[in-house]
Amino acid sequence: MKLGFIGTGKITLSVVTGICTSKISFQKILVSPRNRNIAQKLKKRFRKVNIGKTNQEIVDKCNWVFLAVTPKVGAKILPKLNFRSNQKIISFISTINLTQLKKIVKKKAKIVRAIPLPPISLGKGPVPICPPDNQVRDFFNKIGITVEIRNEKSSKNFWATSGMMAPFYEILKVLSDWLVKKGIKRNEAQKYITSLFVALSEDSAVNSKKHLKYLVSESQTPGGLNEQGVKELRKSGFYKSLEKSLNSILKRLNKK
Ligand SMILES: NC(=O)c1ccc[n+]([C@@H]2O[C@H](COP(=O)([O-])OP(=O)(O)OC[C@H]3O[C@@H](n4cnc5c(N)ncnc54)[C@H](OP(=O)(O)O)[C@@H]3O)[C@@H](O)[C@H]2O)c1
Repeated sequence: MKLGFIGTGKITLSVVTGICTSKISFQKILVSPRNRNIAQKLKKRFRKVNIGKTNQEIVDKCNWVFLAVTPKVGAKILPKLNFRSNQKIISFISTINLTQLKKIVKKKAKIVRAIPLPPISLGKGPVPICPPDNQVRDFFNKIGITVEIRNEKSSKNFWATSGMMAPFYEILKVLSDWLVKKGIKRNEAQKYITSLFVALSEDSAVNSKKHLKYLVSESQTPGGLNEQGVKELRKSGFYKSLEKSLNSILKRLNKK
């Protein structure tokens, strides 16, 4: 199977790295020439990666075509491409919906929207796909955890929560900066904070079958530091503003 990527930016770098370091069996990966640096970096690192000359060459030579350009670029370049009916098209584009994609592709090709996230390069993280597709599900299950979503409206809620990656890293940064201000060396501060949050994330994933409220309460000692932390943050509106941001991201997605 030949896999093609239109748009070689951040997410293609992560997905291609994930594929090439996984057990997925494929013949070749063809990435588009832009971004030049990333395309060359991938070709240099992975034997099976080549750089196509044009976007159309990628469509012509590949069985599965991943769309990984920004919505603006997609709207400009995708209508000019000639796809085939026997192709599978997997779109990572945040705001072009299935109906619009069908119109753009014109052929009866199978189109699936997917939301991989950068940790896919480590073979980790959820990949919501919509509509469900067995081959795409099995593919992403080898480099992450596929979450099949039947209806597109519901998939937008997952898109919205994926907008919380940068805020998550910002929390790690604020905590590390705070330790640094207290005189701790930057590398020690970051090592402490990142390993603390890895441990908490792993623990929450292991316990994800029970309601998360139990982790919130079990991690507090009556009158202890965590009780103070969560109480004060709740009172200050920290978590409410998290919800508010999610709603406003969703509103933006629903406008498209
Ligand atoms: N980053 C994420 O975590 C993530 C997760 C899920 C989905 N997505 C979605 O995936 C898409 C790409 O995101 P990204 O973060 O990877 O963005 P990005 O880093 O900006 O990558 C987009 C790439 O498209 C290239 N490009 C521009 N014009 C092109 C053309 N005419 N033909 C082919 N490629 C062209 C750009 O190349 P130049 O640098 O040369 O302009 C750039 O490298 C977006 O729709 C985004 O919503 C992103």
